[in-house]
Amino acid sequence: MLVIAIAKGRFLEPSLDVLERAGVRFDKDVANSRRLIFDSEDAAFRAILVKPIDVPTYVEYGAADVGIAGRDVLVESRADLLQPLDLGFGHCRIAVAAPKGIRSVGETDHPTVRVATKYPRITLEYFNALSIPVEIIPLSGSIELAPLIGLADRIVDLVETGETLKENGLEIVDVIAESSAHLVINRASYQTKRSEIAGMVETLEKLV
Ligand code: PRP
Repeated sequence: MLVIAIAKGRFLEPSLDVLERAGVRFDKDVANSRRLIFDSEDAAFRAILVKPIDVPTYVEYGAADVGIAGRDVLVESRADLLQPLDLGFGHCRIAVAAPKGIRSVGETDHPTVRVATKYPRITLEYFNALSIPVEIIPLSGSIELAPLIGLADRIVDLVETGETLKENGLEIVDVIAESSAHLVINRASYQTKRSEIAGMVETLEKLV
């Protein structure tokens, strides 16, 4: 049996959809249930539903053989995984944003620019590369709130439609990277379950 780590939230439906098109069918309940483990109809696959940020961890430790995760999460986690395939959905940008009218990445009244983010590593690397002194303010959600209430000067966050930025009076100052959903594979599983995994990769490759 091949265990697949699937991210809950906005990746869930498109992940199930691409898997179904590849012949991996789970119960229709997956998207609406509180259960966290589902076996496919043919019992050849098991889906485990995890937080998006945790997909690399489950796959790196071998609790799942493969997973579907955003490139944002993969870069941030630095997990040692095989990443053979861009699945072609979940396109978004990792961007620096600020209140409307502020055009610079680093200009601030403080000695360091304070940046709220759920991507501390990506953010630190980005500001270090620009030699801009930075103070990272780690948050796990509602990042756009931070500059509105004086917690941070900038944010580094995902931008998909741009609606959340717009509704909170923020705009993009710079784009750090593009992101989309990727198939990831545990290195040991790739050896021990080679034919199942190779079959899956080949089928998905034709689809995307
Ligand atoms: C993500 C991201 C932004 C928003 C961007 O948050 O952190 O807040 O989506 O999407 P948009 O450009 O289409 O508006 P998510 O919905 O995952 O919730 P969170 O605030 O809990 O991180």
